[in-house]
Formats: sequence, structure tokens, C-alpha cells
Amino acid sequence: MADYHVLLLGAPGAGKGTQSKRLAEAFDLEHVTTGDALRANKDVETEYGTPREYMDAGELVPDEVVNEIVEEALSAADGYVLDGYPRNLSQAEYLSDITDLDAVVYLDVDEDELVRRLTGRRLDPETGDIYHVEFDVPDDEAVRERLVQRDDDTEETVRERLRVYRESTEPVIEHYRERGELVEVDGEGSPDEVFDRVAETIRERA
Ligand code: AP5
Repeated sequence: MADYHVLLLGAPGAGKGTQSKRLAEAFDLEHVTTGDALRANKDVETEYGTPREYMDAGELVPDEVVNEIVEEALSAADGYVLDGYPRNLSQAEYLSDITDLDAVVYLDVDEDELVRRLTGRRLDPETGDIYHVEFDVPDDEAVRERLVQRDDDTEETVRERLRVYRESTEPVIEHYRERGELVEVDGEGSPDEVFDRVAETIRERA
């Protein structure tokens, strides 16, 4: 296992999940994702309610819940690619107290493209693999037939997630940019092309 600490930032649908999976494999890193961790525990009661109440509305789950998930996952990983966190400045501050980062990569994608990617996204419930009805259709018919849509990928919730992103997460991007840590990568083009750009950035930085 490599010990690179990689943070992958980007709007909903920018390709963080798609690229994190590939990076984790290519660089032998742990994929730490708050989205997947919360989806696996959507109906667990906390003192703030269940994650589902926030996620299905496109809102952020309270920091207290998410910080704990991240701290536990990072303490168990040597090298990691972190995806979906931090999403506001208070999470960014928490992160800087618990770890250091070798590369902060921002995937830049146009908003119309984000909506197209999210509303067409499908998941394989057996493997967790990510597909798209137009851009990435599985070859295997059995896989095609079992694909499902995420509860928060309806157009209305997607718009709300993008609003929350602009309000809470864009200041995080600005925070890393001001510190000179942010590397912006063009997130458009095929997943292979985007992967090559991100991988090169990580090799240069880490
Ligand atoms: P989360 O699961 O983190 O969702 P997100 O940030 O909205 O990001 P997505 O998973 O939607 O997109 P992605 O960038 O991973 O894109 P993907 O690779 O799948 O969070 C969900 C919810 O959980 C939040 O709304 C919130 O409620 C809660 N939450 C999570 N973290 C939290 C935190 N830290 N604090 C508080 N709450 C939190 O790609 C999208 C689609 O595009 C796919 O279909 C894919 O096949 C396709 N695609 C990917 N790359 C390309 C390409 N290059 N060309 C064409 N298609 C492509």
C-alpha cells in the first residue's frame, strides 16, 4: 500500500467516485468516501436523525456525523484517496487537524454536463460499480438489467445538491486555492482521459 494522501474535490457528478476507484487501484490506496459510507448507513438513527433525511433532500449530513466517519476511516488507512469530504469550511478545518495532504485535485466540469451525468447515472447494486445510461453502458446484459438509480439523482434533488455545493463547498475549493495547494484538472473528456490527467498530477505531487 502506497502512503499518498490524495484529496479529490469536485461538484456532484464531476467524476470523483469514478476516478477515486481507479486511483485506489492504480496507486494501491484506500478509497475513503463519505457518500458511500453514509449510503450504507442511511437509516441508522443518530441524535441528528437518519442520514436519509438529509441525503434524499440533497442537504449535507451534520458535520458531527461525517467527521467521525472520516476520522475513523483515515486512521485505518496508510495511503488514501478521499472523496466527498470536506464539503464546508468547518470540515476542512477538522481535516487539517487529523491528517496532512500530498495532493489536492479539483475536477472541473461544466454545470450542464454535471446534470447530464447525474440524472443518467446508474449503479450496480452487487458490485457498487458506477455506469451511465449514455456514456458508460455495461457490456453484460445481466449487469444492465440489475442497474439502479440513486435516490438523490432525480433532477429536482440534483439541482438542490448543486445549490448546496455552490454555497458550502465552493468556499472549500477557494480555501485550497488561496493556500496554493489546489491543482485544477479538466474533468471533461472520457473517463480514461481524465484518469491520465489526475494520475500524472498525483505522480508529480506525491
Ligand atoms: P456523494 O455520494 O459524495 O455525492 P456527490 O458529491 O454529490 O458526488 P456524486 O457521487 O454524485 O458524483 P461523483 O463526482 O462521485 O461522480 P461519479 O463518478 O459518480 O454525496 C451524496 C450525499 O451524501 C450528499 O448530498 C450529502 O447529503 C451526503 N454527504 C456526503 N458527504 C458528505 C459530507 N462530507 N458532509 C455532509 N454530507 C455529506 O460520476 C457521475 C456520473 O457521470 C456516472 O454515471 C459516471 O458514469 C459518469 N461519468 C463519470 N466520469 C465521466 C466522464 N469523464 N465522461 C462521461 N461520463 C462520466
